Amino acid sequence: MMEELSYHILDIVQNSFTAGASNVRLEIIDSDKDDTLSIIVEDDGKGMSEREVKIAQDPFYTTKKGKRVGLGIPLLKECCEMCEGKFEIISEKGKGTIIKAVFKKSHIDRPPLGNIKDTILTLIVGAEKTDIDFTYKADDKIFNLNTKEIKKQIGDIPINNPDVINFIKEYLNENLENE
Ligand SMILES: Nc1ncnc2c1ncn2[C@@H]1O[C@H](COP(=O)(O)OP(=O)(O)OP(=O)(O)O)[C@@H](O)[C@H]1O
Ligand SMILES: [Mg+2]
Repeated sequence: MMEELSYHILDIVQNSFTAGASNVRLEIIDSDKDDTLSIIVEDDGKGMSEREVKIAQDPFYTTKKGKRVGLGIPLLKECCEMCEGKFEIISEKGKGTIIKAVFKKSHIDRPPLGNIKDTILTLIVGAEKTDIDFTYKADDKIFNLNTKEIKKQIGDIPINNPDVINFIKEYLNENLENE
């Protein structure tokens, strides 16, 4: 069991990169009102057929060469279900994939979100060709960071330029807390 949800997020978004996505939308909805913590990852990558969706959730299957099992999806699914949550994959071959993981927020086994700020930074730096649209919603707040918008503002400067990274880091620090 991975002890922080941010590790799961890293894995699920990296799957989108591997699937050749140009755009990934990551949404975290943290609701005390509903007692749920939801993670939604939507991409425009290569997508999966119905059969591929089924086997992706099987802990003994992977398409990666030289590896016997792919565990990213099965681990997140298992973790969700242990926490009275729901796990869902909606995917269409050639179109993209939506992965939804909902946890009962107050469940004793729910892992903390963990270091979400570093996770977002890691994903932004690691995404050479993929734009990330990240939204964090709580009952009384909404925060958005969209690499497309950042790229528009920085023009010719690459997004992994150290000054840009520092700017993003500060922006995240001002607006988010690690759980
Ligand atoms: N966003 C996605 N778009 C298209 N296919 C996907 C996506 N996410 C997962 N898959 C498919 O589902 C399989 C299982 O994913 P999973 O993350 O569980 O394992 P993995 O990525 O193969 O290995 P690991 O995450 O353990 O390194 C992948 O190998 C890939 O074929
Ligand atoms: Mg994976």
